[in-house]
Amino acid sequence: MKHFIADTQASKTELEKLIKLAIDIKQNPHNYSQALQGKSIVTLFEKPSLRTHVSLDIGIQKLGGHSLYIGQQNGQLGKRERVKDVAKNLACWADAIVARVFDHQVLEEMAMHAGIPVVNALCDKYHPCQALADFQSLTETFGSVENLNLAYVGDGNNVSNSLMLMGSILGANVTVITPEGYGPDKAFIEQADKLATASGAKFKVSHDITDIGGQQAIYTDTWISMGDDTKVADILKTFMPYQVNEALMAATGASAVLHCQPAHLDQEITTSLFDSDKSLAFVQAENRMWAQNAVLVTLLKD
Ligand code: NVA
Repeated sequence: MKHFIADTQASKTELEKLIKLAIDIKQNPHNYSQALQGKSIVTLFEKPSLRTHVSLDIGIQKLGGHSLYIGQQNGQLGKRERVKDVAKNLACWADAIVARVFDHQVLEEMAMHAGIPVVNALCDKYHPCQALADFQSLTETFGSVENLNLAYVGDGNNVSNSLMLMGSILGANVTVITPEGYGPDKAFIEQADKLATASGAKFKVSHDITDIGGQQAIYTDTWISMGDDTKVADILKTFMPYQVNEALMAATGASAVLHCQPAHLDQEITTSLFDSDKSLAFVQAENRMWAQNAVLVTLLKD
């Protein structure tokens, strides 16, 4: 594994190792306090961030490394200078680049030209660091994710793509339920199908909310992702039947609900469920740091 810009870049064994390492770093942080000593990591953001920005900054510090945040003041990557040149410049000083971008292609270009590891901190297609933290959280909660029944309910987006791809690699049975017209792209469905066949997992996409049932955990995310200017009022009627609430949890028998945040309360998830003891949202948030640290330690070890 040279980069971590798409979930499918890591094999089942590599992902399992990353999850194991993330849990070990979490349990024994002092053993890793020098793991990135002398390493500098640039964290580059074209979009807003709370969890990713802070968890990277503090996480890298906990590993003895140095992080430098570059925000949105330079505008969209590729406008002022070529992405290739940005990557090559950053590689003159830094040991790795972690970037949140609008277009996945930008990460591909960076990875091609930087000569140092590139990590995806969210793009239009994937959110692999989030998925890794999610499967770490599910491993901690359920002991294993193999054969775990997991449903994603809501908008088909970067978070659901990563969840279904990584879940299918790891052997979790992932069901994605979205309104019609808001499902995952065909190419991702085909990819997840193949990965699930290889791992022996079941993968399903549906638009029928009554297809839900028998899941141990339900996942949801915002109905409107960053950069999408759809007004909530315009989609409420379509999405409201897909709200994750207590009734849906009861219908599935799920004991855990996941949300990557920011949560739009009483839209994709009810306030009471988000605040309940079934919610893993803050476990996921904490694990963002441990999971990203596991990725950086793995990519930067000599
Ligand atoms: N799908 C959301 C995830 C936020 C962490 C977005 O892209 O805005």
